[in-house]
Amino acid sequence: MLVSPTQEFRFRKSEPRLSASRVVFALAASDRPIIITIDGPAGTGKSTVARQLAGRLGLDFLDTGAMYRAAAAIALDRGLDLSDPAALIAAVQDADLRFDWSQDPPSLLAWNRPIDQRLRDADVTSVVSPIAGIAALRRLMVEKQRQIGAEHRRLVSEGRDQGSVVFPDASVKFYLDASPEVRAFRRAQQLRRSGMEYDAEQVLEEIVARDRSDSTRPDGPLVCPSDALRVDTSSIPFEGVVDELERLVRARVNVD
Ligand code: DC
Repeated sequence: MLVSPTQEFRFRKSEPRLSASRVVFALAASDRPIIITIDGPAGTGKSTVARQLAGRLGLDFLDTGAMYRAAAAIALDRGLDLSDPAALIAAVQDADLRFDWSQDPPSLLAWNRPIDQRLRDADVTSVVSPIAGIAALRRLMVEKQRQIGAEHRRLVSEGRDQGSVVFPDASVKFYLDASPEVRAFRRAQQLRRSGMEYDAEQVLEEIVARDRSDSTRPDGPLVCPSDALRVDTSSIPFEGVVDELERLVRARVNVD
């Protein structure tokens, strides 16, 4: 929500005995709600960019992909039959997924235990997209994300549907993009750094398949909202993307 001059005027009127210096302090230490959404496909650096942007602006950071990955890890680890969404929903509810906000980045807990280490495993990555397409699971996650947004009212939220579905009234919406080739190259670099074997062509094929699965599902498909600022990260290093997003936010919202 953008803070209009009218809102600031009302704030001053309701505090008639504040001295000028206290007014400045009160405005500077504002807890005005600000929600910034960052959506886009895999390999655009959304998580890195969102986390750094949140740090620079002093906002909390929500990684919604981690929530779908946690659901996928639960399904795999409990040997759940994926043709039965009810069993998955029951397990996810029983796990009481929630973030530990005392950690940076916030750690995701399932059954009160951190599950972060499991989320990037190859088996989780290979099943998460179809699992994220299960309508009942999306409803549950959207509800949880809105609840988080209600409790953490100064938030950078990153995912696929944050601006289009979860927070349609977000203060600023971004959509990060990059060509599939660039995204596949980045993914290959990540795999190389972690000492894993990979086949470049297969990495590209997986990226294209995941794009197709994420953007063609009926619920919460990956789309660029019409009011989002689209940023192509293909030829800009992540640090430059964060600079640009910070500039765009500060030009639109009074963050401090
Ligand atoms: O961003 P990521 O790679 O961690 O996301 C994991 C999967 O979850 C990916 O297939 C997209 C999906 N996802 C989603 O459908 N909606 C979100 N808000 C976030 C992620």
